[in-house]
Amino acid sequence: MSVAGGVGREIIYLESIDSTNRLAMDLGDKGAVHGTVVIAAAQTKGRGRLGRRWESPAGVNIYMSVILRPALEPKDATLLTILSSVACARAIRERTGLYAQIKWPNDLMFGDKKLGGILTEIRLISGKILFAVIGIGINVNAGREDFPPELSDTVTSVMIETAVKQDMDKIISSVLNNLEGYYNDFLKKESLTLLDEWRSLNSTLGRHVRVATGGGTYLGVAHDIDDNGMLILRMSSGELRKISAGDLNILR
Ligand code: BTN
Repeated sequence: MSVAGGVGREIIYLESIDSTNRLAMDLGDKGAVHGTVVIAAAQTKGRGRLGRRWESPAGVNIYMSVILRPALEPKDATLLTILSSVACARAIRERTGLYAQIKWPNDLMFGDKKLGGILTEIRLISGKILFAVIGIGINVNAGREDFPPELSDTVTSVMIETAVKQDMDKIISSVLNNLEGYYNDFLKKESLTLLDEWRSLNSTLGRHVRVATGGGTYLGVAHDIDDNGMLILRMSSGELRKISAGDLNILR
């Protein structure tokens, strides 16, 4: 696999692991360099957001974690998720032709079904980010039988939608190249381009949504994202509320 630049300079491949994010966090604690990538063919305890389980059937999907060592404030972590979701949606579109979209903050979608997700975990030291792990799960060649029946209405894969078995290595290298490019733009403070890219790929803005956060559940129209990647929600009162993290459902 050819990968330019710093992201992907060290790639660790494993047949099976509990969670590539768990291993990447451990490697980060042991000093693994910026750009180290962990890829597994299967996960036995794949982690999703909000403590959920990530279905990780063997050999058919992408399970990958990337260690980044950004000199960032914790509030910027949302932008890492935003830029990673743009990198993934672009890679899926480029390599498979499938019209992948992004649902704020981290879901890769095709229509109203989930194609993948991003789990960003950060290690803080003295209030600063020491390193971040970007966990990427993309359902590539899974068939319907690879998912539990209760997910059949909400989850899909590139192969289910295109009826073509996809080359996972090509998607992986495109994700890593895009990640490198968007990350460098971001460091150069060219995040406005990134936010516009996100806007052009998203399936959330303009929709009526319900967002469950730690501080309560809010209903409104997804109005925009701000320069830090926070969702700006227009409530029925007309008030604009910024939300940094939450579980978003599109209502109509
Ligand atoms: C989500 O809930 O949408 C985020 C899912 C992230 C899953 C990926 S798979 C690779 C990496 N390792 C994990 O344990 N989780 C992430």
